[in-house]
Amino acid sequence: MMSDHRYLVTSALPYSNGRLHVGHIAGAYLPADTYVRYLRANGREVRFVCGSDDNGVASLISARKEGRTVEELTAHYNARQAADFAGLGIAFDIYGGTHQPDCVELHNRISQDFFKSIFEKGHFVKKTTKQLYDEQADQFLPDRYVKGTCYHKKADGTPCNYDSAFGDQCEACGAAIDPMLLINPVSTITGTTPVPRETTHWYMQLSQFEGRLRQWLESKREASKGEPAWREAVLNFSLGQIKQGLPERAMTRDLDWGVPVPLDDPDAQGKVLYVWFDAPIGYVSFTARHCQQNDGDWQAFARWWKDPDCRIVHFIGEDNTVFHALTWPAMLMAEGSSQLPWQVVANAFLNIKFPGKEEEKISKSRGTAIWIEEYLKTFDPDPLRYYLTAIAPESQRTAFDVDDYVTRNNSELLNALGNFINRTLTFAVRYFEGKVPDAGQREAVDNEHLAAVAAQATKVAENIEAFRFKNALTELMALARAGNVYFDAKQPWKQRKDDMSACGTTINVCVQTVKALATLMAPFLPFSAAKTAVMLGLDVKGASGTDPCSRALAEVLPWSEATHELPAGHPLGESAILFKKLDAAELFGEK
Ligand code: 2FM
Ligand code: ZN
Repeated sequence: MMSDHRYLVTSALPYSNGRLHVGHIAGAYLPADTYVRYLRANGREVRFVCGSDDNGVASLISARKEGRTVEELTAHYNARQAADFAGLGIAFDIYGGTHQPDCVELHNRISQDFFKSIFEKGHFVKKTTKQLYDEQADQFLPDRYVKGTCYHKKADGTPCNYDSAFGDQCEACGAAIDPMLLINPVSTITGTTPVPRETTHWYMQLSQFEGRLRQWLESKREASKGEPAWREAVLNFSLGQIKQGLPERAMTRDLDWGVPVPLDDPDAQGKVLYVWFDAPIGYVSFTARHCQQNDGDWQAFARWWKDPDCRIVHFIGEDNTVFHALTWPAMLMAEGSSQLPWQVVANAFLNIKFPGKEEEKISKSRGTAIWIEEYLKTFDPDPLRYYLTAIAPESQRTAFDVDDYVTRNNSELLNALGNFINRTLTFAVRYFEGKVPDAGQREAVDNEHLAAVAAQATKVAENIEAFRFKNALTELMALARAGNVYFDAKQPWKQRKDDMSACGTTINVCVQTVKALATLMAPFLPFSAAKTAVMLGLDVKGASGTDPCSRALAEVLPWSEATHELPAGHPLGESAILFKKLDAAELFGEK
């Protein structure tokens, strides 16, 4: 059973310099949406917050490449990302952006207050050091403006040596990078070798927080009542980093795009906050923006961020672990007025496998990706949600295999789930005047099936609450299969001819199963759950059966009523087909 807490759920802020592909969605967005829908169905008060990560070097590089201003670029991709999420039914309460016109003012203010508060508490050290400078471009080269060979050791103690590590983080070993330590650094602006030049920045000594971070992370190892343990990969990586010693981190940058450093100090002129300093504060500032829009008071964000009755859950991709499980909590500890995340749920990356090709990494430059925008032009969102949950990279890298996607759509969604719902409801419509038949005389087999329905509902819930979405979906599908087994065993098509009352019992039990399925499906397959609710004759307020709004669905299909039975005589809606058969060649034969 869910605890009584409120929940503030976030998904990693995507950089607003590109489109979204299936790997993004599988990582930090779909599981978060599934979790939020489940919370809402359980009557929990939730805010689901996301938006684009507009500041920093990533957008500057793309703007330069695409020949437009960084404001234009980030606005453009922010809008496209928001449309992709909406198309997939990933329903944030707010999709902001750290530099978007309607968020930037509050974002800058809250980020600057946060910075000043850490400054006043004495957790920054101002230092003048040598940093990499591009003499041709006439500028410093923070973060992704420089590339080189990684100097870190991997978990097994061998050197990482990845030769294209950016100046912020190594993609290969996940560790944060100090650009000055990169081996053979090269400017990504001009391709020249940078030279060291003096500049002044404000640093956080993360080592001061090692003890508290270690203790806090260790406390997340064991599940305790209603509090699932964190995933091992997150804990092992973060505790491993602490063991190696946390480096000091410059929290300011020599850039003119971002949140201005809020200090009355000539050395702060022309400098902005490090993008990884302001980005997680985006979670706070977007919450505040949502409060401003809805309650007229942005400061109501405190109800989510400073009140222990609220649990903060961050969904991220594995490459963001260092920032969410170490740097951000250290910032929160240093600032001192907000609570720490309750959960950091990280997924591994997703590979891709096109028909007739080897499995490979998703890559924008090599064109090996399935873009959400393209997908949604032709296909329905739920089959994608289904597949991405079924193969969720929860503990290790998995692959989106196009053939497998088609097979599972056809054999699982269509032949198991869709078929059970469809055969039940068309039967009721045809032979019971579109009404739920009388339960009649239920026998052991009927009661056993209904007990199994309730047991599956519990299993799905337990798995979602433990952030095991893939297992939860497996349990849901087990229920759909059990429905088919029951239907086949009872043979209502024969019963209809011999014993209409017994046939009514069967179809009654099947309709109750469909109702439970619709409820359990809603977090995973909201579009199909909404359609099923309409077919069940439930009053989906404000929803046509194609609107999967999580609040409307939670109202019509509350989790606690998954096994509450529809009464005999309840009028059913019109039946419709839920899932379409797919053909691999037609799908992604040519990408
Ligand atoms: O890796 C990324 O895509 C980052 N833009 C994630 C930021 S998450 C948060 F901290 F804002
Ligand atoms: Zn590395």
